[in-house]
Amino acid sequence: MQGRAEEPAVREASGLARRTGCEAHARAHANIALAKYWGKRDAALNLPAVGSLSIALEALYTDTTVRFDDRLAKDHVELDGRPAPAEHARISRFLDCVRERVGLRSHASVSTWNSYPTSAGLASSSSGFAALAFAATRAAGLQLSVAELSALARRGSGSAARSLVGGFALLPPGRREDGGDCYAVCLMEASCWPLVVVVAITDPGSKRTGSTKGMTRTAETSPYYRAWVEASEADLAAMCDAVRTRDFPRLAELAEHSAFKLHALMLSARPPLLYWNAGTLAALEGVRGLQAEGVPVFATLDAGPQVKAVCPEAYAETVAERLGRLAGVRQLLRTGLAGPPTVREAPP
Ligand code: PMV
Repeated sequence: MQGRAEEPAVREASGLARRTGCEAHARAHANIALAKYWGKRDAALNLPAVGSLSIALEALYTDTTVRFDDRLAKDHVELDGRPAPAEHARISRFLDCVRERVGLRSHASVSTWNSYPTSAGLASSSSGFAALAFAATRAAGLQLSVAELSALARRGSGSAARSLVGGFALLPPGRREDGGDCYAVCLMEASCWPLVVVVAITDPGSKRTGSTKGMTRTAETSPYYRAWVEASEADLAAMCDAVRTRDFPRLAELAEHSAFKLHALMLSARPPLLYWNAGTLAALEGVRGLQAEGVPVFATLDAGPQVKAVCPEAYAETVAERLGRLAGVRQLLRTGLAGPPTVREAPP
């Protein structure tokens, strides 16, 4: 599947890139995959083994400010107002990609804030690396195209590539070994189909196994991994069609199939990856109950215990009311769909 956006290519940094002390601020929205990505075809370049399709979430976002500064002896990273030792190495490695591209040697000060619980299977790496890619390149004086930014964000986290385009985002696996054709494109803008996502948070704590580790274990040990990869192209093509035609019942069936197939795959790893808890099952039962009553809603889950219920705007209240009163659902978030990230530069 080929994207419409232009081919990523390294560009000359502008004169601004040579200065230090430039600051940029970006806001990027988290996304939730309806056709899931799980597995890498190249770990070093972070290239996915399967294509994916997601929706961007308006109320779930990351705000990130980056400043490159010659006077810093190392990168400084702050997450939600506190030093972030757990995330520091991964963020610094990502900044190295930006520095290499520009030929910049300065370290950076990164301050990032999430509007929702971090690392709890709510896709914080998607909004996190999308915001970081945008803010860091601008702070370094680079003006990249959306395709270039998406490919860069993918180096931090596969799902982040999709947050760069917003709306209904399609990330093909690409075929090129250098990953030059692996960047997200906007299949349809958010405003074209105003869906609502009700997120049932059943455990706000950090998840037990991160996605990269989980994907490696699954690829190495699951007897079903090959079947997952083989079916992915047809699954994705069907979902693109359901989105383009705004066929909710078809999208619901395909998205639930993708989510449950992903979790069946995770469960078949050795040792198994079990992300659910009692609240997860209660929320899934809640969605089943609503469906039985004729409410157009479907459930999806990432590598975590939270359940995301997706429905047309007119049913959001009914869905939120039902899920909100379930034992085991600790918090509810409700959100419409979002567009691409925004960026703001401050003068040095
Ligand atoms: O991009 P990562 O490393 O956050 O992995 C994302 C994996 C899933 O959230 C489970 C699926 C997806 O496509 O977002």
